[in-house]
Amino acid sequence: MPFPAIVRIESPRLTLRPVLASDLADLLEVNGDPRVTRFLPYPAWQSLEDGSAWLSRMEALGASGTGRQLVLVAKPDSKVIGTLLMFRFDEASSRLELGYALARNHWGQGLMKEAVDAVCSHAFGELNIRRIEAEVNPANAASCRLLLTAGFALEGNLRQRWVANGVAYDTCIYGCLAEDWRRNRRAGGPP
Ligand SMILES: CC(C)(COP(=O)(O)OP(=O)(O)OC[C@H]1O[C@@H](n2cnc3c(N)ncnc32)[C@H](O)[C@@H]1OP(=O)(O)O)[C@@H](O)C(=O)NCCC(=O)NCCS
Repeated sequence: MPFPAIVRIESPRLTLRPVLASDLADLLEVNGDPRVTRFLPYPAWQSLEDGSAWLSRMEALGASGTGRQLVLVAKPDSKVIGTLLMFRFDEASSRLELGYALARNHWGQGLMKEAVDAVCSHAFGELNIRRIEAEVNPANAASCRLLLTAGFALEGNLRQRWVANGVAYDTCIYGCLAEDWRRNRRAGGPP
């Protein structure tokens, strides 16, 4: 079975839905900022053409049945302010990975935590996912903290896992099991 279709996921301040070509102008504001792309696997977009190339990659991922690129739509004005990728879906192991980015002027307001909570709730509930994981550069303090506050556990540090611009760097692996999620919910802890 390919990655299940997602129509929309709601949270108090956001709607998450699959990306559309018409989102690229808003997403250029997000991914055109090198502070946002610093830890992402692509350089800051210079133009809508960079956005179109990115969208083609995301569409290919969707067609492969292993992922789904969502966007974060802010409820007050329907502006697209971020992205959340569900990828590396492994059906046999009921596992997937998350990646995300938020426009710089929206950082520090709890918005990505809200988005991750909503997506995990959907994935562990309706999609019956068993394990969600995320890889983070240990220098990315905001992302490391976000995952811990969302109820993920730091499971290890993979040494020199990736090379970017000729430099090898470590990655921290974070994981959350459906049973962790349900236990946290029952205990009133994260999320
Ligand atoms: C990582 C990112 C999505 C965080 O989004 P955000 O909406 O600002 O995060 P939140 O406001 O939901 O914060 C979640 C937690 O992280 C903490 N946090 C946020 N920014 C932080 C920072 N720069 N340093 C330390 N902690 C930080 C918050 O205080 C909060 O913890 P708390 O509940 O204990 O207070 C955002 O910084 C971003 O888009 N970065 C660029 C893209 C990126 O690096 N993506 C991840 C790749 S792995």
